[in-house]
Amino acid sequence: MMSPGWNWFVIIVTLANILGCWWLIIWAAKKRPGESEEGEVTGHVWDEDIEEYNNPMPRWWLMLFHLTIVFGLVYIVLYPGLGNYKGVLNWTQVGQYDDEAKAIREAQLKRFAELGNLSPAELVKNEQVLLTGSRLFAANCSTCHGSDAGGAVGYPSLNDSEWQYGGDYDTILQSISNGRTGVMPGWQAALQDDGVKEVTEFIVQLSGQTADAGLAAKGETRYNLFCVACHGADGSGNPALGAPDLSNDIWLYGGSREAITQSIATGRMGKMPAQKNLLTEEQMKLIAAYVTSLSN
Ligand code: HEC
Ligand code: HEC
Repeated sequence: MMSPGWNWFVIIVTLANILGCWWLIIWAAKKRPGESEEGEVTGHVWDEDIEEYNNPMPRWWLMLFHLTIVFGLVYIVLYPGLGNYKGVLNWTQVGQYDDEAKAIREAQLKRFAELGNLSPAELVKNEQVLLTGSRLFAANCSTCHGSDAGGAVGYPSLNDSEWQYGGDYDTILQSISNGRTGVMPGWQAALQDDGVKEVTEFIVQLSGQTADAGLAAKGETRYNLFCVACHGADGSGNPALGAPDLSNDIWLYGGSREAITQSIATGRMGKMPAQKNLLTEEQMKLIAAYVTSLSN
């Protein structure tokens, strides 16, 4: 709301402009005493022989000016344009936006509700579901997991067969809805430099890369002491804890000696934010179906 002073200022300036234009058109079109007739020379001469004719604008053209003024007046009666006056249509930008957003939202919810009623087995096969799911994924997940769901360092790939927590529809839906926090404590204090080095060498060996056998053997002893509880005797991980498989060449944080050393020494704590307050149940189901379909 404008203060009364500004309100009147805007009203007066706006109306004065419109009416001023109108006056100008009428004034300019008036025939004056002594003026030459239409189509005749006015008597002005330039450069010795260039003469000016009195050729007024065509009537219809002039009418257009009048029409724009009528349009302007009608417009400020219908729409807000005069200070605090709201216009007889009561139109607002926010109102229009809200109406359109509401219509889209309703159409979406209806569509989601139809699709969301399908069983997981049907969802994962339904073309329409996967298409909608892929769009929702692009809008909500691709910033972290990549537009092809291929992931990045610290952000797991969702299009391969390796899962921290599990790759079936229900588990994926859980991951999305409640989020996940992988907790891997740092081992620098417990293992010291040598210990970290040895156990790193063992993980390097476990994942099928060439490693120093002597160091790896010492590392294995430490592994069995400190790591087995979460990563398993064979290093294949534990989905209940989100502990990744260490025995293959798929890595969340990288499989180089440097990356593995850092994972072990300082620990890791990847966080997947819960989506249940951001997305509807149906939206999460559609995305879960899409993600499930990627690795199958
Ligand atoms: C309390 C359970 C727990 C223990 C004990 C544990 N880890 Fe982990 N570890 C995890 C979890 C969970 C992650 C995944 C962290 C994340 O999601 O950010 C992980 C991640 C890792 C990674 C990174 C894997 C990747 O794909 O980049 C390495 C390497 C690793 N752990 C090695 C070890 C070693 C070596 C030990 C023993 C010294 C150990 N962990 C002990 C739970 C554990
Ligand atoms: C802010 C970044 C971020 C966003 C946004 C995000 N995620 Fe994640 N997500 C992660 C991280 C980090 C992890 C790994 C958590 C861990 O280390 O325990 C993860 C883990 C997951 C997992 C578990 C993977 C496994 O191997 O078990 C799934 C499934 C998943 N995200 C799906 C999604 C979907 C679907 C969306 C979109 C609705 C999404 N994420 C949005 C960061 C994100």
